[in-house]
Amino acid sequence: MITGANRGIGLGLTKSYLQLGHTVIATYRKDKESLDALKSDFSNTLFTFPMDIQHEDSVKSTFKDISQKTGQIDLLINNAGRYGSNQASVKSTMDFTDMLVTYQTNTLGPLLVTKYALSLIEKGADKKIVHISSKVGSIADNGMGGAYGYRASKCALNMINKNLSLELPHITTVVMHPGWVQTDMGGANAPITIEESVNALVQTIDRFATNDSGGFFERTGEPIPF
Ligand SMILES: NC(=O)c1ccc[n+]([C@@H]2O[C@H](COP(=O)([O-])OP(=O)(O)OC[C@H]3O[C@@H](n4cnc5c(N)ncnc54)[C@H](OP(=O)(O)O)[C@@H]3O)[C@@H](O)[C@H]2O)c1
Repeated sequence: MITGANRGIGLGLTKSYLQLGHTVIATYRKDKESLDALKSDFSNTLFTFPMDIQHEDSVKSTFKDISQKTGQIDLLINNAGRYGSNQASVKSTMDFTDMLVTYQTNTLGPLLVTKYALSLIEKGADKKIVHISSKVGSIADNGMGGAYGYRASKCALNMINKNLSLELPHITTVVMHPGWVQTDMGGANAPITIEESVNALVQTIDRFATNDSGGFFERTGEPIPF
């Protein structure tokens, strides 16, 4: 299952897992043309559901529908996220309303999805949860500052992942940095294509086991300091 699957890294992950022969539950917030375009090639293995991870009602009702389609989720990729407006400096105007939306989306959203996915993950073969976080959520790696809202939201997501790993030791739950990627969020100057990022992510995710749980990793599997 992949959230935010209609564009960017989420769409790349969806295509990659479908091409590898997996069944994919792909969720989107509003636009699904890109996913519909895949249905002719993957009519038996691609299932799409609307879900806005900012709203519990939406997550809850989507999982009611998903449970009618499948009895298990082997791998949940909490990919959906937002950058928000750039809260660069405490000395300039800060949009706290926008920062709250970023926190709801990047931090609470994945936790909500995991909460409602858990009974299906428990029945899954792999029992893996991957949170697409960001290296800018690392306190140890923060040499530049800026992006207050986005950095804090991903840092808090890393903490949520660690908590999940302690509470659910039989599930492998990790946070990953996909690289700086050419998406709407990453922009055209990013050095890595979606395909490059996704190929590495998929290979690394496949190798994860319970002893990696709670960790923070590059797309290649190198650990990132918290
Ligand atoms: N690109 C990078 O360089 C980079 C670097 C580090 C980490 N990341 C992380 O990688 C993940 C994917 O990023 P991306 O670059 O692919 O970004 P993107 O191209 O901007 O796509 C973001 C995706 O998240 C979805 N989304 C946002 N808010 C949502 C909500 N409330 N409910 C459901 N879906 C929502 C979007 O749906 P809509 O189409 O409906 O807006 C879209 O599918 C994010 O978590 C991001 O923080 C990206």
